[in-house]
Amino acid sequence: MLQVASITLMQQTKSIRDIQINNKKILIRVDFNVPMDKDFNISDDTRIREAIPTINYCIDNNPHSIVLVSHLGRPKGKSQEFSLKHILKRLERLLDKNVAFADSIKSAQTLQDTLPKGGVILLENIRFYEGEEQNSPELSQSLASLCDVYINDAFGTSHRAHSSTYGIASFAKEKVAGLLLKKEIDSFAKALANPLKPVLLIVGGSKVSSKLELLINILDVVDKIIIGGAMSNTFLKALGYDMQASLTEDALLADATKILALAKTKGVKIYLPVDVVSTDDIKNHTHIKITPAQDIPSGHMAVDIGPASTKLFAQVVHSSQTIIWNGPLGVYEISQFSRGTFNIAHSIADTYAFSLIGGGDTADAIEKAGERDNMSFISTGGGASLELLEGKILPAFEVLDKKADFIQP
Ligand code: ADP
Ligand code: 3PG
Ligand code: MG
Repeated sequence: MLQVASITLMQQTKSIRDIQINNKKILIRVDFNVPMDKDFNISDDTRIREAIPTINYCIDNNPHSIVLVSHLGRPKGKSQEFSLKHILKRLERLLDKNVAFADSIKSAQTLQDTLPKGGVILLENIRFYEGEEQNSPELSQSLASLCDVYINDAFGTSHRAHSSTYGIASFAKEKVAGLLLKKEIDSFAKALANPLKPVLLIVGGSKVSSKLELLINILDVVDKIIIGGAMSNTFLKALGYDMQASLTEDALLADATKILALAKTKGVKIYLPVDVVSTDDIKNHTHIKITPAQDIPSGHMAVDIGPASTKLFAQVVHSSQTIIWNGPLGVYEISQFSRGTFNIAHSIADTYAFSLIGGGDTADAIEKAGERDNMSFISTGGGASLELLEGKILPAFEVLDKKADFIQP
């Protein structure tokens, strides 16, 4: 099975616990790509908080210095809107320590030489350097020159083969995983490589196309799949239902039929909504109706699962021991269409199953449902978690040192 082999391989990555930090120059690639409002107030600092244990671990082990490297957003050139200065105060507060800001690799080098021992330096947005996304060898080498030990703790960016996540490793003496990277991969292993059965995948969101590979590859791992959100519209349409004005991907109807047939041959049960909440307009609605999925009113679009589906899905949730969830079951951003997603979050919270959450919007929906603390593990990676569920080996893991007893699976 693809997932098991890839995850087992990635779990054999060396971590900071396997090496010496004392007196060494440390560079940690973190993912401080956090959401901010127009005034640069951080609306969710989870990714910064999740990087703190690794930084503190290094501080506690007497390093020469620590340089933190991250990207923020997708800047074109050096736009100050994307400066990492916006997160400096929050970082200092969470670390309870002063952090020096370096606006270039050169100034990071100067700070390394002048700060008292153990100083922490935050480098400006690494995507301000053109070579970063091109994985340029020059940039990779220049970053590596800042360190004796390269630590990758940027799980959210571990699916990118960029200079600071990938190329740097070929120039660094020691290259290991941070505690977050390790926690993420161990949690995915718990759900994918040796899960308690039955395993349930709940999948939703807006597009089948973005999760087609996941759906096909995960059939070898799971026992049951609940499909909701706009994704289920395409599946219901493939079954011959009139989905009216619902969001569907007509180019994928044949793929949806193929997945349903493949699931049957592999003995995986698929659950689709039996009723839906539909509306004439998502933002300016004048009508909202609950109907069987076959009877969507003319001109309406399905925007949430209905109450009968919520009950049915809750039963499926309660009879599972491992639950993987990626993608909201409706337009959860609008309160009238959030009930299905929120109720499933509450159902998962009520179980004793191991629950693994991937996907930025899914994590946001769970937070809004007030169930964040009741999930077993919420991944800090959207795209990265999707690639893990697809069975891929993430580039960032690929280039890190392996444990001494490494076995090729
Ligand atoms: P994640 O970030 O968790 O992977 P996605 O980005 O795939 O999730 O999907 C989330 C989006 O899907 C949300 O913005 C939500 O409004 C949208 N969505 C869910 N159900 C529907 C639906 N029935 N019609 C239109 N959009 C939907
Ligand atoms: C993310 O938010 O998914 C990561 O930080 C990666 O960002 P990217 O999609 O811009 O590479
Ligand atoms: Mg999303």
